[in-house]
Amino acid sequence: MNITILVTGAAGYIGSHTCFELLDRGYNVVAVDNLVNGNREALQRVKEVTGNDIHFFKADLRDASTLERIFEEQPIDAVIHFAGYKAVGESVEDPLLYYSNNVSASVTLLSVMKEYDIYNIVFSSSCTVYGKPESVPVKETDSMAPTNPYGRSKLMVEEILRDSYKALPSLSVSILRYFNPIGAHPSGRIGEDPDGIPNNLLPYVSRVAAGQLEELKIFGDNYDTHDGTGVRDYIHVMDLARAHISALEELLNGSGSNCKTYNLGTGKGYSVLDVVKAFEQVSNREVPYKITDRRPGDIDKTFADPTKANKQLGWTAQKELKEMCQDMWYWQQQNPNGYSN
Ligand code: NAD
Ligand code: UD1
Repeated sequence: MNITILVTGAAGYIGSHTCFELLDRGYNVVAVDNLVNGNREALQRVKEVTGNDIHFFKADLRDASTLERIFEEQPIDAVIHFAGYKAVGESVEDPLLYYSNNVSASVTLLSVMKEYDIYNIVFSSSCTVYGKPESVPVKETDSMAPTNPYGRSKLMVEEILRDSYKALPSLSVSILRYFNPIGAHPSGRIGEDPDGIPNNLLPYVSRVAAGQLEELKIFGDNYDTHDGTGVRDYIHVMDLARAHISALEELLNGSGSNCKTYNLGTGKGYSVLDVVKAFEQVSNREVPYKITDRRPGDIDKTFADPTKANKQLGWTAQKELKEMCQDMWYWQQQNPNGYSN
């Protein structure tokens, strides 16, 4: 096999795990990242674990001439587009940053792809496009009403892709709506390395278990859920990485052009307290917590209906919450300071 995949945002959390999976399956990888949030060391470790090389370009997607040079030089067959910003609070404070980096950058990428006749793209969307779901489990056809600029930037790129597909029938698009990715590569060499104090639950919990943070603040215990704390569909990052290969192969092997959207989740919802309990069990550490006010904008409950991805991509999430927590804990122990050990 001699197929080359351009991965944008390759040095980030999900990008690096997907690069692992691509190399492991025999694809060539051309990685593009401006390293604003990613880490060069992540790609170094992907190379070390797989024993394969990655052609890395430190470049910003908004820089069309550099992108053109990369497409000129590299025999690219398809693109997996992860690059972007993802912090909800920051997007409320600085929406233009999000519309520029998530929306404009995607337009630049699509324009350069078109210029070089590259017509296969897998795009990272998010369950955040649904906003507060009307009902659970959430289906791809449910209504979408994102509640913040980050979510709207994701929905805008989805719409741009759907419009481009209508105008350009040779385009093949796979839009993947991730639920809550957690965990790390089981080697303990690749994982999530957020800057500063984490916003998301699992990185916070693992630092509390490690004694780096004093206690978890649980944002509300009066939601309409089995124990009052928020319920989410946590999915192992390696299951997510595998789903990208399935989506990519559907594009590469499909009989014609297409534009498909898939929910990527396990279909199971766990509460914050379920997660704390699972983490305490696997780490054999206590995770002290206190209940605080709700976080503005949070919803009580969401989880995916992943039937479409199960049937059409032949993909199913395999790893349970316990394994997600185990791999997260192993990564935390091996890399107490993330990639800057
Ligand atoms: P991440 O921040 O770890 O990775 C994103 C990468 O993109 C970083 O390495 C960053 O340096 C790079 N990047 C950002 N802007 C760029 C630009 N203009 N040019 C080149 N590189 C740029 O995030 P992640 O968790 O790996 O998420 C990847 C994608 O998945 C994002 O698009 C995110 O919105 C989406 N997503 C993430 C989650 C999640 O919880 N992690 C959930 C749903 C969707
Ligand atoms: C976050 C993003 C969302 C993205 C989703 C998937 C925010 C506000 N939203 O949402 O856009 O699509 O991830 O990756 O960042 N919690 C605590 N204490 C904490 C942290 C979290 O109790 O310190 C609770 C939350 O209230 C929630 C659950 O844990 O019930 C999960 O939170 P988080 O990991 O931030 O994910 P989401 O809220 O689903």
